[in-house]
Amino acid sequence: MRSATEGKPAGIGPFPEAVLAGLNRQIAAEFAAEFTYLNMAGWFDSQSLGGFSAFMERQAAEERDHALRIFKYVLDRNGRVGIESVDGVPNDFDSAADAFHTALANEESVSDSIKTLYELAVEARDRPTAIFLEWFLTEQIEEEKTFDDIVRRVELAADDRAALLVLDIELGGKAGEEG
Ligand code: FEO
Repeated sequence: MRSATEGKPAGIGPFPEAVLAGLNRQIAAEFAAEFTYLNMAGWFDSQSLGGFSAFMERQAAEERDHALRIFKYVLDRNGRVGIESVDGVPNDFDSAADAFHTALANEESVSDSIKTLYELAVEARDRPTAIFLEWFLTEQIEEEKTFDDIVRRVELAADDRAALLVLDIELGGKAGEEG
């Protein structure tokens, strides 16, 4: 005799535990990026570099969107969100170049953690999460390029304050153009 559950469709199903833990870690990493860029916005403002500050504020808003995109995905699959504390957010920089180097290193670290999470999802045969993460992998190409370009240009400006101010004005007006 067939049981009531026999032959019942499995559906998308719950998260593998390790994948859910990884997604929660990634939410925290995206918030850490948000706080990092807000700190940088504050630091640039203190240096009278309002354009860089506005740019960092927009980057921070993007990071919050990334965190909430994962948050919503976890909820959509009936997962339990558990955001842990966000520690070690930098708040002091030697120069504009130092801040942008720090931002680029942060993006590279985010890319690494998304790649690791993607591999985890594939290993756990959690295809929906792997597909969900593809957007983030593609986004990271743009994010790394944005900061890499700025690092190069800030380095070209070196100690030339006038050149730095031109870049500051340019980035300040670039609302919505960068990734
Ligand atoms: Fe959400 Fe810039 O990584």
